[in-house]
Amino acid sequence: FNSRLLDGIHLTITAGPTREAIDPVRYISNHSSGKMGYALASAAADAGARVSLISGPTNLACPERVKRIDVVSASDMHDAAMAEMGQCQVFIACAAVADYRPANCAEQKIKKTDDSMRIELVRNPDIVSAVASHPQRPFTVGFAAETQDLLRYAKDKLERKNLDMIVANDVANTSIGFNANDNAVTVLWPTGNQTIAQMGKRQLAAQLITLIAQRFLSAEN
Ligand code: PMT
Repeated sequence: FNSRLLDGIHLTITAGPTREAIDPVRYISNHSSGKMGYALASAAADAGARVSLISGPTNLACPERVKRIDVVSASDMHDAAMAEMGQCQVFIACAAVADYRPANCAEQKIKKTDDSMRIELVRNPDIVSAVASHPQRPFTVGFAAETQDLLRYAKDKLERKNLDMIVANDVANTSIGFNANDNAVTVLWPTGNQTIAQMGKRQLAAQLITLIAQRFLSAEN
Protein backbone atom coordinates (compact mmCIF):
# COMPACT_ATOMS: atom_id res chain seq x y z
CA PHE A 1 0.00 0.00 0.00
CA ASN A 2 1.56 3.26 -1.14
CA SER A 3 1.58 5.74 1.75
CA ARG A 4 2.27 8.67 -0.63
CA LEU A 5 -0.47 7.85 -3.18
CA LEU A 6 -2.77 10.68 -2.07
CA ASP A 7 -0.17 13.06 -0.62
CA GLY A 8 -1.55 16.59 -0.52
CA ILE A 9 -5.01 15.54 -1.73
CA HIS A 10 -8.05 16.56 0.34
CA LEU A 11 -10.78 13.93 0.51
CA THR A 12 -14.24 14.22 2.03
CA ILE A 13 -16.13 11.06 3.01
CA THR A 14 -19.70 10.73 4.30
CA ALA A 15 -20.40 7.77 6.60
CA GLY A 16 -23.00 6.19 8.84
CA PRO A 17 -26.77 6.61 8.96
CA THR A 18 -28.84 9.77 9.30
CA ARG A 19 -31.63 10.23 11.83
CA GLU A 20 -34.83 12.00 10.85
CA ALA A 21 -36.74 13.27 13.87
CA ILE A 22 -40.42 12.39 14.34
CA ASP A 23 -40.70 14.09 17.74
CA PRO A 24 -38.17 14.96 20.50
CA VAL A 25 -37.61 11.26 21.36
CA ARG A 26 -38.18 9.30 18.12
CA TYR A 27 -36.57 9.11 14.69
CA ILE A 28 -36.43 7.21 11.39
CA SER A 29 -33.04 5.69 10.53
CA ASN A 30 -31.34 2.59 9.07
CA HIS A 31 -28.80 -0.11 9.96
CA SER A 32 -25.61 1.61 8.78
CA SER A 33 -22.90 1.28 11.45
CA GLY A 34 -20.39 3.60 9.76
CA LYS A 35 -17.77 0.81 9.56
CA MET A 36 -17.31 1.05 5.77
CA GLY A 37 -17.02 4.84 5.68
CA TYR A 38 -14.68 4.97 8.68
CA ALA A 39 -12.48 2.26 7.10
CA LEU A 40 -12.29 4.38 3.92
CA ALA A 41 -11.35 7.46 5.95
CA SER A 42 -8.61 5.53 7.72
CA ALA A 43 -7.28 4.03 4.44
CA ALA A 44 -7.28 7.46 2.75
CA ALA A 45 -5.34 8.97 5.68
CA ASP A 46 -2.87 6.04 5.43
CA ALA A 47 -2.43 6.93 1.74
CA GLY A 48 -1.36 10.45 2.72
CA ALA A 49 -4.65 12.31 2.13
CA ARG A 50 -6.10 15.05 4.30
CA VAL A 51 -9.46 13.58 5.26
CA SER A 52 -12.74 15.13 6.43
CA LEU A 53 -15.25 12.54 7.63
CA ILE A 54 -18.85 13.77 7.75
CA SER A 55 -20.46 11.24 10.05
CA GLY A 56 -23.99 10.45 11.13
CA PRO A 57 -24.44 8.97 14.63
CA THR A 58 -22.20 5.88 15.12
CA ASN A 59 -20.40 4.13 17.99
CA LEU A 60 -17.03 4.30 16.27
CA ALA A 61 -13.91 6.19 17.31
CA CYS A 62 -12.61 8.77 14.85
CA PRO A 63 -9.65 7.29 12.90
CA GLU A 64 -6.27 8.91 13.52
CA ARG A 65 -5.33 11.94 11.40
CA VAL A 66 -8.97 12.36 10.28
CA LYS A 67 -11.14 15.44 10.91
CA ARG A 68 -14.64 14.29 11.90
CA ILE A 69 -17.67 16.50 11.43
CA ASP A 70 -20.64 15.13 13.38
CA VAL A 71 -24.14 15.46 11.93
CA VAL A 72 -27.54 13.94 12.70
CA SER A 73 -30.04 14.48 9.88
CA ALA A 74 -29.75 14.35 6.08
CA SER A 75 -30.23 18.14 5.98
CA ASP A 76 -27.29 18.60 8.41
CA MET A 77 -25.17 16.21 6.32
CA HIS A 78 -26.10 18.13 3.15
CA ASP A 79 -25.06 21.45 4.71
CA ALA A 80 -21.75 19.99 5.98
CA ALA A 81 -21.04 18.44 2.55
CA MET A 82 -21.71 21.73 0.76
CA ALA A 83 -19.38 23.54 3.17
CA GLU A 84 -16.58 20.96 2.65
CA MET A 85 -16.87 20.34 -1.09
CA GLY A 86 -15.21 23.58 -2.18
CA GLN A 87 -12.01 22.50 -0.42
CA CYS A 88 -11.77 18.86 -1.49
CA GLN A 89 -10.63 17.17 -4.70
CA VAL A 90 -12.31 13.81 -4.03
CA PHE A 91 -15.74 13.21 -2.45
CA ILE A 92 -16.86 9.71 -1.43
CA ALA A 93 -20.51 9.25 -0.39
CA CYS A 94 -20.67 6.12 1.76
CA ALA A 95 -23.39 7.32 4.13
CA ALA A 96 -26.80 5.68 4.17
CA VAL A 97 -28.78 8.90 3.93
CA ALA A 98 -32.52 8.76 4.63
CA ASP A 99 -34.31 9.50 1.37
CA TYR A 100 -37.32 10.94 3.25
CA ARG A 101 -37.90 12.79 6.53
CA PRO A 102 -41.09 13.49 8.47
CA ALA A 103 -42.81 16.56 7.00
CA ASN A 104 -43.14 17.96 10.54
CA CYS A 105 -41.23 17.17 13.69
CA ALA A 106 -43.71 17.35 16.60
CA GLU A 107 -42.58 19.81 19.26
CA GLN A 108 -43.72 17.55 22.10
CA LYS A 109 -43.62 13.76 22.44
CA ILE A 110 -46.50 12.31 20.43
CA LYS A 111 -49.09 10.71 22.74
CA LYS A 112 -50.55 7.26 22.14
CA THR A 113 -54.23 7.84 21.30
CA ASP A 114 -55.54 6.29 18.07
CA ASP A 115 -55.12 2.64 16.96
CA SER A 116 -53.15 3.75 13.93
CA MET A 117 -51.27 6.83 12.88
CA ARG A 118 -49.71 8.22 9.73
CA ILE A 119 -46.48 10.11 9.36
CA GLU A 120 -46.18 12.17 6.23
CA LEU A 121 -42.69 12.04 4.69
CA VAL A 122 -41.03 14.48 2.32
CA ARG A 123 -37.93 13.97 0.14
CA ASN A 124 -34.51 14.84 1.50
CA PRO A 125 -31.90 16.57 -0.68
CA ASP A 126 -29.66 14.13 -2.58
CA ILE A 127 -26.23 15.03 -1.22
CA VAL A 128 -23.99 13.20 -3.70
CA SER A 129 -26.03 14.52 -6.67
CA ALA A 130 -25.73 18.06 -5.33
CA VAL A 131 -21.94 17.66 -5.03
CA ALA A 132 -21.59 16.09 -8.49
CA SER A 133 -23.71 18.73 -10.23
CA HIS A 134 -21.75 21.66 -8.77
CA PRO A 135 -19.71 23.65 -11.35
CA GLN A 136 -16.51 23.14 -9.29
CA ARG A 137 -17.26 19.51 -8.57
CA PRO A 138 -14.65 17.25 -6.96
CA PHE A 139 -14.03 13.74 -8.35
CA THR A 140 -17.23 12.17 -7.01
CA VAL A 141 -17.71 8.56 -5.93
CA GLY A 142 -21.06 7.16 -4.76
CA PHE A 143 -22.23 3.87 -3.34
CA ALA A 144 -25.32 1.93 -4.44
CA ALA A 145 -26.90 -0.27 -1.76
CA GLU A 146 -29.33 -2.62 -3.48
CA THR A 147 -31.29 -5.76 -2.59
CA GLN A 148 -32.00 -6.74 -6.23
CA ASP A 149 -30.71 -6.04 -9.77
CA LEU A 150 -27.49 -4.70 -8.21
CA LEU A 151 -25.48 -3.80 -11.30
CA ARG A 152 -28.39 -2.42 -13.31
CA TYR A 153 -29.45 -0.07 -10.49
CA ALA A 154 -25.83 0.88 -9.75
CA LYS A 155 -25.18 1.79 -13.41
CA ASP A 156 -28.39 3.80 -13.42
CA LYS A 157 -27.24 5.74 -10.29
CA LEU A 158 -23.77 6.31 -11.81
CA GLU A 159 -25.40 8.03 -14.78
CA ARG A 160 -28.36 9.74 -13.11
CA LYS A 161 -26.26 11.20 -10.27
CA ASN A 162 -23.46 12.21 -12.69
CA LEU A 163 -20.78 10.30 -10.70
CA ASP A 164 -17.22 9.42 -11.68
CA MET A 165 -17.41 6.01 -9.98
CA ILE A 166 -19.98 3.96 -8.06
CA VAL A 167 -19.46 1.14 -5.56
CA ALA A 168 -22.23 -1.46 -5.93
CA ASN A 169 -23.07 -3.14 -2.62
CA ASP A 170 -25.42 -6.14 -2.44
CA VAL A 171 -27.16 -5.48 0.89
CA ALA A 172 -29.52 -8.49 0.63
CA ASN A 173 -26.57 -10.65 1.77
CA THR A 174 -26.31 -10.14 5.55
CA SER A 175 -22.66 -11.31 5.70
CA ILE A 176 -21.70 -8.10 3.83
CA GLY A 177 -23.10 -4.57 3.67
CA PHE A 178 -25.03 -2.93 6.53
CA ASN A 179 -23.40 -3.45 9.94
CA ALA A 180 -21.35 -6.51 8.80
CA ASN A 181 -17.57 -6.66 9.34
CA ASP A 182 -17.01 -7.84 5.76
CA ASN A 183 -17.97 -6.41 2.43
CA ALA A 184 -17.81 -7.41 -1.25
CA VAL A 185 -18.41 -4.91 -4.04
CA THR A 186 -18.28 -4.23 -7.76
CA VAL A 187 -16.95 -0.80 -8.67
CA LEU A 188 -18.27 0.73 -11.91
CA TRP A 189 -17.06 3.78 -13.84
CA PRO A 190 -18.03 4.96 -17.33
CA THR A 191 -15.31 2.93 -19.10
CA GLY A 192 -14.78 -0.09 -16.85
CA ASN A 193 -15.48 -2.07 -13.71
CA GLN A 194 -13.73 -4.12 -11.06
CA THR A 195 -15.06 -6.67 -8.57
CA ILE A 196 -13.52 -6.97 -5.10
CA ALA A 197 -14.33 -10.32 -3.43
CA GLN A 198 -15.54 -10.64 0.17
CA MET A 199 -13.03 -9.53 2.82
CA GLY A 200 -12.88 -7.36 5.97
CA LYS A 201 -14.01 -3.76 5.47
CA ARG A 202 -10.59 -2.35 6.41
CA GLN A 203 -8.82 -4.48 3.82
CA LEU A 204 -11.49 -3.74 1.21
CA ALA A 205 -11.27 -0.01 1.97
CA ALA A 206 -7.52 -0.07 1.21
CA GLN A 207 -8.23 -1.65 -2.20
CA LEU A 208 -11.05 0.81 -2.90
CA ILE A 209 -8.87 3.82 -2.02
CA THR A 210 -6.13 2.52 -4.34
CA LEU A 211 -8.61 2.10 -7.20
CA ILE A 212 -10.25 5.50 -6.59
CA ALA A 213 -6.82 7.16 -6.43
CA GLN A 214 -5.80 5.53 -9.74
CA ARG A 215 -8.97 6.73 -11.51
CA PHE A 216 -8.78 10.21 -9.92
CA LEU A 217 -5.08 10.68 -10.76
CA SER A 218 -5.55 9.49 -14.36
CA ALA A 219 -8.50 11.92 -14.75
CA GLU A 220 -6.25 14.74 -13.43
CA ASN A 221 -3.48 14.08 -15.98
O1 PMT B 1 -22.06 1.62 7.55
P1 PMT B 1 -21.88 0.13 7.37
O2 PMT B 1 -22.67 -0.66 8.41
O3 PMT B 1 -20.45 -0.26 7.31
O4 PMT B 1 -22.55 -0.28 5.96
C1 PMT B 1 -21.98 0.17 4.76
C2 PMT B 1 -23.07 0.57 3.75
C3 PMT B 1 -23.88 -0.66 3.37
C4 PMT B 1 -23.99 1.63 4.35
C5 PMT B 1 -22.29 1.17 2.52
O5 PMT B 1 -21.42 0.20 1.98
C6 PMT B 1 -23.26 1.64 1.43
O6 PMT B 1 -23.68 0.89 0.56
N1 PMT B 1 -23.59 2.96 1.48
C7 PMT B 1 -24.61 3.59 0.65
C8 PMT B 1 -25.94 3.39 1.31
C9 PMT B 1 -27.08 3.99 0.54
O7 PMT B 1 -27.93 4.61 1.14
O8 PMT B 1 -27.09 3.81 -0.78
P2 PMT B 1 -28.21 4.32 -1.82
O9 PMT B 1 -28.14 3.38 -2.95
O10 PMT B 1 -29.53 4.53 -1.14
O11 PMT B 1 -27.67 5.74 -2.23
C10 PMT B 1 -26.90 5.96 -3.39
C11 PMT B 1 -25.85 7.01 -3.16
O12 PMT B 1 -26.46 8.29 -2.95
C12 PMT B 1 -24.95 6.78 -1.95
O13 PMT B 1 -23.65 7.20 -2.28
C13 PMT B 1 -25.57 7.68 -0.87
O14 PMT B 1 -24.61 8.12 0.08
C14 PMT B 1 -26.06 8.84 -1.72
N2 PMT B 1 -27.22 9.58 -1.19
C15 PMT B 1 -28.43 8.97 -1.06
C16 PMT B 1 -29.54 9.69 -0.64
C17 PMT B 1 -29.37 11.06 -0.33
N3 PMT B 1 -30.40 11.78 0.10
N4 PMT B 1 -28.17 11.64 -0.46
C18 PMT B 1 -27.08 10.93 -0.88
O15 PMT B 1 -25.98 11.47 -1.00
